[in-house]
Amino acid sequence: MVKQSIYPDVHKKTASGPRSYPIIGCFPQMSSKPLQFLTNAAREYGDVVHLGPIGPQQLYLIAHPDGVKHVLLDNFNNYVKGANFKDRDFTILVGNGLINSQGEAWRRQRRVMQPPFHSRQQLSAMFTLMTDVIEELLEQWRSIENAQIDVAAEMLKLSQKIVIKALLSLDTNSKETDQIIQAWRTVLAFHTRRIWAFFKVPLSIPTPRNVQFLQAVQTIDTIVYGIIRERKQGSNDYNDILSLLMNAHDESGESSSDELLRDEIVELFVAGFDTSATTLGWIWYLLSQHPNVEAKLQEELTAVLGGRTPTFEDLPNLKYTKMIIQETMRLYPAVWILSMNNVEDDEICGYHIPAGSMIVLSPYVTQHLPNFWENPDKFEPERWSPERSADRSRFAYLPFGGGPRQCIGEVFVTTEMQLIIAMISQQLRLNLVPGHPVEPDTRHVLRALHGLPMTLEPRKSRELTLQKM
Ligand code: HEM
Repeated sequence: MVKQSIYPDVHKKTASGPRSYPIIGCFPQMSSKPLQFLTNAAREYGDVVHLGPIGPQQLYLIAHPDGVKHVLLDNFNNYVKGANFKDRDFTILVGNGLINSQGEAWRRQRRVMQPPFHSRQQLSAMFTLMTDVIEELLEQWRSIENAQIDVAAEMLKLSQKIVIKALLSLDTNSKETDQIIQAWRTVLAFHTRRIWAFFKVPLSIPTPRNVQFLQAVQTIDTIVYGIIRERKQGSNDYNDILSLLMNAHDESGESSSDELLRDEIVELFVAGFDTSATTLGWIWYLLSQHPNVEAKLQEELTAVLGGRTPTFEDLPNLKYTKMIIQETMRLYPAVWILSMNNVEDDEICGYHIPAGSMIVLSPYVTQHLPNFWENPDKFEPERWSPERSADRSRFAYLPFGGGPRQCIGEVFVTTEMQLIIAMISQQLRLNLVPGHPVEPDTRHVLRALHGLPMTLEPRKSRELTLQKM
């Protein structure tokens, strides 16, 4: 049994931490290997770690689940989104949608945007479209059997096509879908380079990168505004998220303006594209490295589906498939860090946190704490069995955040991932190219730095080979 708290000095009022420098604090150590640095800092200094200054603010890492709960839930109103979200480049992209808003504006948006993602009827309709898009991918893959693919890139395209179709009903092979995917590549490259840069070249300076980025945002805007206006002038009779958002009214009876609808859609791209894709990439990587887990997955798929395509009703029976997803997101949480500022002084796990500090929560760090996770570095889906999960602190696991701002796409994306694993795994085994280096890249979502080249092995021929052996 894992002990729930080993830190002896919870009553100490001032948090300690690694050596830091004036103005830049621990930035030099943190920016080169942030996962190791922060994980070691939490293991060494405890529940709340002081990481020195970052410009005029003090920086604290909150590692203990009780501290995480305090920030995300108990004292939620005292925290506003961190600096990354105030960066002008990010605002130009996400506008005033849910992710970027605070206070009453956020509450209003949340009430409008949450229902489509939580309605069983809507999820069931999205399930059908997901099945079609995955079937299309399998069809393409069939023509390149035994060839090498980059699973990271393929999963990104797949997630993008699913999200774009669920939001806008755009055909997966349409010109617009392709343009959004292309534009996204530019947006992502720009954002990845810039997010951890100490100095950001203002967008008003027309460097080639700034110009490319603004053009990409323009491409996305033209498509999204075009669809919104077309529907306002013609028919809005679609079974997709945009249609639900257009029909939704807030408490005052007002519906969203074109600008707000655009922001809502684009922020769902931001929130949904790379997070889902990178998680799927890690799932295939981990399965390729753990044949025992893969074998158990096959047993479940055979028992529940016996080779057929899953239905929405099958999902609750794909329990081990879900445990693989949960364990992958524990080891490799796509959103590995969250930052915010406290408006007023606070006390977290007994430590004083002065007003205006920058607070970081790290799903990666908290999900690797040895006091809460036995063998934290081991890939072990069995730890998600009901018996082994029963006593676990809810906030020891936060790949989807927590509290009022918890991810609204959680059910959508878990459904999507269960379906993708079930459909692909029944037909193919994905083998990592031997010797390929795999290491996490922290610059944006947590993804594989050098991609994930894999070969596609048809399941039947593999089973025949194994039978002959
Ligand atoms: C594996 C995939 C995903 C992961 C790991 C993930 C993770 C997260 C996390 C950690 C947050 C909280 C951020 C914060 O507190 O600042 C969040 C928020 C959010 N997510 Fe997801 N997400 C995923 C997929 C999706 C998808 C597919 C959608 C929708 C298409 C989505 C929509 C959102 C939205 C709109 C928010 C903002 C909620 C708010 O501020 O009230 N996410 N997500």
